[in-house]
Amino acid sequence: MTLRPMNIDPGKCFIAGAWVDPVGGDVLPLLNPSDGSTLCEIARGTAQDIDAAVAAADRALGGDWGRLTAAERGRLLAKIGHAVLDHVETLAELEAMDVGKPLTQARADVVALARYLEFYGGAADKIHGETIPYLDGYTVYTLRARHGVTGHIIPWNYPMQIIGRSVGAALAMGNACVLKPAEEACLTALAFAQIAHAAGLPEGALNVVPGLGAEAGAALAAHQGVHHISFTGSVGVGKLIQQTAGNNVVPVTLELGGKSPQVVFDDADITGARPFLVNAGIQNAGQTCSASSRILVQRGVYDQVVTAMAAAYDELRAGPALSDLDLGPLVSPRQREIVEGFIAKGRDLSCVARGQIVAEAPAGGAYVAPHLFADVPAEHTLAQDEIFGPVQVVIPFDDEAEAVAIANGTDFGLVASCWTENGARQMRMAKALRAGQVFINNYGAGGGVELPFGGTGLSGHGREKGFEALYGFSTLKTVAARHG
Ligand code: NAI
Ligand code: MG
Repeated sequence: MTLRPMNIDPGKCFIAGAWVDPVGGDVLPLLNPSDGSTLCEIARGTAQDIDAAVAAADRALGGDWGRLTAAERGRLLAKIGHAVLDHVETLAELEAMDVGKPLTQARADVVALARYLEFYGGAADKIHGETIPYLDGYTVYTLRARHGVTGHIIPWNYPMQIIGRSVGAALAMGNACVLKPAEEACLTALAFAQIAHAAGLPEGALNVVPGLGAEAGAALAAHQGVHHISFTGSVGVGKLIQQTAGNNVVPVTLELGGKSPQVVFDDADITGARPFLVNAGIQNAGQTCSASSRILVQRGVYDQVVTAMAAAYDELRAGPALSDLDLGPLVSPRQREIVEGFIAKGRDLSCVARGQIVAEAPAGGAYVAPHLFADVPAEHTLAQDEIFGPVQVVIPFDDEAEAVAIANGTDFGLVASCWTENGARQMRMAKALRAGQVFINNYGAGGGVELPFGGTGLSGHGREKGFEALYGFSTLKTVAARHG
């Protein structure tokens, strides 16, 4: 099957600039989570396809791609970004059908992908080394060198955004990439490879091998020809990947999600906060690494905040991705089971509001109505574990010290925010919150591609986005010349 008008062949891998059948000849069904139908078949890539992709990437480094100057790479990335925008509606529709996300959110992801390419295109020739004052008779300087072949194992929740931030930054630094998209959603990864090559990306600079995690993914993580791995996904697989990469002594960037809190103090602008409090929890049906799944509220405004959030929940509607409501289905029946399992564990809690699944939502879709739980003990599983669905918990607190203790009281540390008009408290909270990003009187800041992003604790390590990612996708070489 060929998906028009993109002209991609989803049953194949994209290696060395061409569509190739997986060596094993096997395919996997790709599910449309809005109705449970099969969208198409995708390649079930294996270790042999990963071998071919890594070899193609390696050849690209010694070929046309490796010979481009930083400025030329930058210009090319910007051009690919424009080409992505030329396909905004097609890409958004593919993503909406594949992931199940509402069309408006899918469209925003396309724009974000283009923005990453524009940003990293502009940055490609702005990463400089330094000169270092040293002993008399020496000149010392540093060079930024690419890693070589970079492996990118990405999940299904934001394929285009994650391609933008990881593949975009890796290409900017001159690496050649092998991308293993998720078996649940890989159409836009394939479409992107096609668009990038049509825009002039030399063959082998980006190779895409769809397939199962335990097969294609594990083979990529273990491949001795790969010099850096970036992974976004579950904690369990992240640990495996770090161990595997450890055998080859290659660096890894791990982005493993979180249990990110928003802390609302008595003096906060509750009206201004309300849309952030709710949207950060239900965007992409809560299947967001940086979802804010815990809302901590000081007792003076506790009832007011719970009432305001509950009213917002009453209005939420879940339905087919192309109907473009507040939420789509979850990505798969399996993800729905995981989330329903958590909701069942909340039966001892107070569920103060839940949104609706619209009547026209097909019975075969993976829908979960958004749930808001209040008065949740901080140690409860719903307040500790990543749910990855449209479920938020509200937790009361008395004072700043208790707020910090609860906010920092999980194994994660990805994102946090605090809502308060007290400037001194804003500064104290920014220092005290355990997170890779802290927001004051907002949450997410619109997702800014310029803003370094990543976790601490079980949320992972390494930073993507912003200039920081470019340091991660390169290594430093020190040159010391003795000239007398
Ligand atoms: P996962 O970690 O299994 O999948 C993510 C990617 O890793 C996919 O491309 C998958 O094929 C690959 N993968 C799986 N096993 C692998 C292995 N042994 N070696 C190499 N690659 C492998 O995540 P999954 O099963 O899709 O979701 C389970 C949970 O993980 C979610 O409920 C959520 O809590 C978390 N998650 C977090 C994400 C984030 O953005 N941080 C994204 C996706 C999932
Ligand atoms: Mg999995």
